[in-house]
Amino acid sequence: MKILITGGAGFIGSHLVEKLSKGNEVVVFDNFSEGREEFIKGFKCKIIKGDILDRKAIGDAMKGVDECYHLAADYRVKESYDIPVKNFETDCAGSVNVLEACRKNNVKNFVFTSSCVVYGIADMPTPETAPIRPISNYAAAKAASENYIMSYSHLYGIKGTILRYANIIGQRSTHGICYDFYNKLKKNPKELDILGDGNQKKSYLHVKDTVDASIFAKEHTKGGWDVFNVGSEEQISVKDIAGQITGFMGLKDVHYRFTGGEKGWPGDVPRMLLSIDKMKKLGWKPRYNIREAIADTLKYLKEN
Ligand SMILES: NC(=O)c1ccc[n+]([C@@H]2O[C@H](COP(=O)([O-])OP(=O)(O)OC[C@H]3O[C@@H](n4cnc5c(N)ncnc54)[C@H](O)[C@@H]3O)[C@@H](O)[C@H]2O)c1
Repeated sequence: MKILITGGAGFIGSHLVEKLSKGNEVVVFDNFSEGREEFIKGFKCKIIKGDILDRKAIGDAMKGVDECYHLAADYRVKESYDIPVKNFETDCAGSVNVLEACRKNNVKNFVFTSSCVVYGIADMPTPETAPIRPISNYAAAKAASENYIMSYSHLYGIKGTILRYANIIGQRSTHGICYDFYNKLKKNPKELDILGDGNQKKSYLHVKDTVDASIFAKEHTKGGWDVFNVGSEEQISVKDIAGQITGFMGLKDVHYRFTGGEKGWPGDVPRMLLSIDKMKKLGWKPRYNIREAIADTLKYLKEN
């Protein structure tokens, strides 16, 4: 099987490359804005440095491909407030470019990394059938991409797997709460700036579980397209994460400086827990609990 992974040099993408390169011909398509060559250099894959906004480049890369995992995106929810058009271009128009490259090259399997944030403020645990109510530009672009997958599936017979990820952590993390807190505390072990009031409570999933779930969901996609929540059944508060990190670093009496407010930033969804009943009924469940996933992330950050 020849598999193209956009964003394959990034945090989650590199784990997908690690897994799929065993037994498949993998092509990584990445502009390296965030991705790192060192993340994938040990794995058997062809690397194409290119941008999903370059239609010719992504079209050429898609030749002879059987399956496409589309991960390339600008993940920055907070920043999408200030750069809605740029975010739209990468996270929505970019997705359509990748879909179009699939259509033109007869690629019949498309896997898309969407996000729990498409639900906005929702009842919890949130099932896949909950209404889509984005409260950030990033979430709106993800939701719009999902809609294009549905129309491409209906019109051109492309099978679409839509994955709504919780917050993902683990080795090779280059962003997110553990990465931010750990690096802030390394610089200043006495104080920690925390966005919001610290009571935000969200769900986190280990990247290895994420990759397993993504491939599993693709294999269980029935019909034209299907949507899967990919998360865990636990939540943890921002304050508790800070506590685990300061404990790991052996720090005492760290002063937490809260910016205040229920949300960390405009567009933040302060409470999130996905229902993973659909995936569980099919036979998948996470192997790592939240504390273990955080510990593994911190171990990596310490060693790198
Ligand atoms: N990390 C999370 O918690 C999380 C949660 C929900 C959804 N997601 C989604 O999962 C996917 C992967 O996220 P990640 O955390 O690994 O982020 P990441 O930034 O590490 O990976 C994204 C990759 O895409 C590449 N890229 C960005 N813009 C590009 C462009 N225009 N053309 C080609 N390549 C481009 C980057 O260089 C990077 O390697 C994204 O679609 C993200 O929205 C991530």
